Amino acid sequence: MSIPAPPAASDEGAGWKRVGQRYSCPLLVRQYPSEVPFGFLGRVAPPSSRVDVVLEAERIPTGRALELVHGARAVADAELLDGRAGRTTPELEVERRSADELGRAVASRAQELWRVGLAWVGHGPSRARAESERQRLAERLAALGFRTRVPRYQVAECLAAPGHGPELARPSGYWQTLTTDGLAALYPFGDETVLEPGGALVGLSLADASPVFLDRWAHASHSWGMFGTTGAGKSFAAALTVLRSRWLRDDLELIVLDPLGEYGSFVRRLGGTVVRLRDHELGRLNPLDPVTTAGDRREKAARVVTMLRALWPSLADEEAASLDAAVRRLYDRRDVDPTFGALADELRRGEGGRLPTLLEVFRTGSLRELDGPTTLKLDRPVVAIDLAGVPDEQLPFHLAYLLDWTYHRVSSRPGPKLVVLDEAHLLARHAGTAEFLDRTVRHLRHFRAGLLLLSQNPDDFLGSPAGRSLLRNLSATALLRLPEVSDACRAFFGLSGTEAEWLAKARLPADAGYAESLWRVGPWHLPLAIVASTPEFELIGSALGEEPTSRTGEPTAPRSGGL
Ligand SMILES: Nc1ncnc2c1ncn2[C@@H]1O[C@H](COP(=O)(O)OP(=O)(O)OP(=O)(O)O)[C@@H](O)[C@H]1O
Ligand SMILES: [Mg+2]
Repeated sequence: MSIPAPPAASDEGAGWKRVGQRYSCPLLVRQYPSEVPFGFLGRVAPPSSRVDVVLEAERIPTGRALELVHGARAVADAELLDGRAGRTTPELEVERRSADELGRAVASRAQELWRVGLAWVGHGPSRARAESERQRLAERLAALGFRTRVPRYQVAECLAAPGHGPELARPSGYWQTLTTDGLAALYPFGDETVLEPGGALVGLSLADASPVFLDRWAHASHSWGMFGTTGAGKSFAAALTVLRSRWLRDDLELIVLDPLGEYGSFVRRLGGTVVRLRDHELGRLNPLDPVTTAGDRREKAARVVTMLRALWPSLADEEAASLDAAVRRLYDRRDVDPTFGALADELRRGEGGRLPTLLEVFRTGSLRELDGPTTLKLDRPVVAIDLAGVPDEQLPFHLAYLLDWTYHRVSSRPGPKLVVLDEAHLLARHAGTAEFLDRTVRHLRHFRAGLLLLSQNPDDFLGSPAGRSLLRNLSATALLRLPEVSDACRAFFGLSGTEAEWLAKARLPADAGYAESLWRVGPWHLPLAIVASTPEFELIGSALGEEPTSRTGEPTAPRSGGL
């Protein structure tokens, strides 16, 4: 169980910033060259360098773009007329002609104009190393015709991660206007491995570092699975997926069911609410509240029996039958609100055997806070339920009613939603909860919702029909390091012997600085590096309870170029 650590100490000077042991020295572009050679980024930021490239681009609406182009032409016209400007007549004529051409291209939508922010960042374990990385970078850029500047006293504004929190004041001269072609030239990839345009970046191909994007919303099921041994990078990959998905759709709602209490800081950084089950600070969620099945009391009764059987897996058949009967009687009654107290009364009426004693846990025992009506109100679009501190044997029960609550929440709110379920094996253990999870995954898409299911071993799901059905309903599955790949796993995912052997040796983030993974998407088998850019790493690494500097060394290959 990890306890979230505070972000690593940071420090800042006129032209640099330090987070933990990592120094960053940014460099801005003052003026772009008129042309750049194809693939120039590979030369400016080769894999051997400690350089990130941060690119932000926003389309300028066509009407405004035409105004800008006409403005530029008018300036050239005026300068040509009065002849006093510092530029020669041929230069101004070229500018006027190109403004005309661009105006036509923008009007016909062949080109668009973009507001582009581009920052280069040199990194190093000491200030001197980071500064010399930046110096070499500036020299390489100058050789290509870029004119650069160091943003003195504006380093934090330059390095802040884009797209979160209030609009950032970027340093002066940060934003420039480029055409679509100009912007395209800044992308580091010329290859077509994109897979699903419009999707979120999931990783870089281990073969050639080309990026792979997947669009969960383009599939019948919006749910994905991630499996791998402890430390393989599942929770990190889930946070990265959340971040990138929210960059693409800022109306994306998020629910994290977090058995180990790892995501709290991350979710708070996204402006969300964290409900810690152990302290009941924000109110009570009554697992028996019939609201979750929108008035379908029969369905609710069935779900309640499932969650209670996950709490007491050793119930004998007769006890299970008594429980089932008492729960149904409770939901058939309209005169009492279903609470654990009311259920205990109902059990006492029947022949409950040891059941009334078991129910004591909700009256006087460790679950007594759950006895009573729901008082918890969660209005924010981003929510995590933190189960840290809950006894291990109670985790499946809590997850089962939280899944019921989640199902209701996603079905009753508009807009796209993503649900992260970490340590999902806890629900795979019991037939009832596994079936409920399978049903949930099948239905989520009707509510524009997808699940991100994380677990260590796919075998936990392959052992039951419900588990296999669930795996079949994931539109993408990422297999990270798996120490052993069972025959069942090989057969189910259609893995070759080489792939199975490779998974057992896939590199771990602690060694590589990124996670190696094999993605199964439709017919594709994609070996990918799950790589975070520096701002993403700083945001997630520290928030998931890790100091950013605990990333041992720099990634050795491949590099994302910071995109
Ligand atoms: N893609 C990555 N890039 C950089 N660091 C990573 C990456 N993935 C994981 N890490 C780091 O590796 C460590 C382990 O990752 P994580 O906690 O995500 O593993 P996990 O698979 O969820 O393990 P567990 O099963 O124990 O929960 C963390 O310190 C995390 O910050
Ligand atoms: Mg984890």
